[in-house]
Amino acid sequence: MLALMSIPPATKQTRGPAIQVQGLQKSYKQLHVLRGVDFEVARGSIFALLGSNGAGKTTIVKILSTLLKADTGAAQVNGFDVAAQAADVRESISLTGQFTAVDEILTGRENLVLVAKLRHLKDPQAIADDLLRRFSLTEAGNRRAATYSGGMRRRLDIAMSLIGNPPVIFLDEPTAGLDPQARIEVWQAVKNLAQSGTTVLLTTQYLDEAEQLADQIAILHQGRIIVTGTLAELKALLPPAEVEYVEKQPTLEDVFFAVVGHNQK
Ligand SMILES: Nc1ncnc2c1ncn2[C@@H]1O[C@H](COP(=O)(O)OP(=O)(O)O)[C@@H](O)[C@H]1O
Ligand SMILES: [Mg+2]
Repeated sequence: MLALMSIPPATKQTRGPAIQVQGLQKSYKQLHVLRGVDFEVARGSIFALLGSNGAGKTTIVKILSTLLKADTGAAQVNGFDVAAQAADVRESISLTGQFTAVDEILTGRENLVLVAKLRHLKDPQAIADDLLRRFSLTEAGNRRAATYSGGMRRRLDIAMSLIGNPPVIFLDEPTAGLDPQARIEVWQAVKNLAQSGTTVLLTTQYLDEAEQLADQIAILHQGRIIVTGTLAELKALLPPAEVEYVEKQPTLEDVFFAVVGHNQK
C-alpha cells in the first residue's frame, strides 16, 4: 500500500461521476508518459485501466491520489479537483499498491484493529470482524500475517484500505505476482467491493483480469486512452475480417492486439 487515506462514512459525498479526467499530460524530464488522457468513471462501477508495463498506469493513479502533479489537464475525484482540493480528494479515497502495508508480525485481526484505531473509529474490533468476514479471513484472523498466502495477504491489504469506507478505491495491479488461485480470490473480493457501492479503479496488464472484473475497460497506449468501453463494446470494435470463425468469440486479447498492433505492445 502506498498510502492509506479515507474518511468515516457519511462525510462529504458529491454527485456526478466518481472520477473525471480531462487532457492529463505528464512528463518525467524528456519522457512524455501521458499525452492527453481522458476518461470518466461512474459511481459504484469497476473501471480497469489496461496497459503494458511502463504505459503510465501508476502515473495516472498517483495523479488521481494527489501524490503527483500533472503538467497539464485536470482531474476530479468524488467531485473534488485533485490540484485545488487535494485534502478533500485524499479523504475520499484509499490506495492499495503493489507493496503491501500489512505488518507481518501482527495477526490479520491486529492489522485491521490497528488501522481502525489510527483512524479513531468506534469499535475497532467490530470493524475488524466485519472485514475479516467480508474477505473470507475469519478463520485466519488470529494467525500472524507472516503465515498468510499471497492471496490472503493481498485481501488483508485491500480490507485494511477499506477501513473508514472511502467511496473511491484505487487498486494498482492488485494481483501482480499472485498465483492463479490467489488471483481468483482477489477478484472475488474486488467484485464484492463494487457490489457494496464502492467505486473501484484498478490498473492491470492482464487482459483476463479486465475481462473478469471491469464494467468499463480503458486501454492506455502510448500516452493516451485509445479505446474505452464495456467488454462487449470493445469486442464489437474488432473488424469482422479479424474473426476467422463465426462461432469464435473474439477475446479481449484479440481486441487489444488489433487496436495496439501486434509488434508494439
Ligand atoms: N519518477 C520517475 N522518474 C522518471 N521516470 C519515471 C518515473 N516514474 C515512472 N517513470 C517512467 O514512466 C513510465 C511510466 O511509468 P508507470 O506510470 O509506472 O507505468 P506503469 O504503471 O503502467 O507500468 C515508465 O517508462 C517509467 O519508467
Ligand atoms: Mg505501475
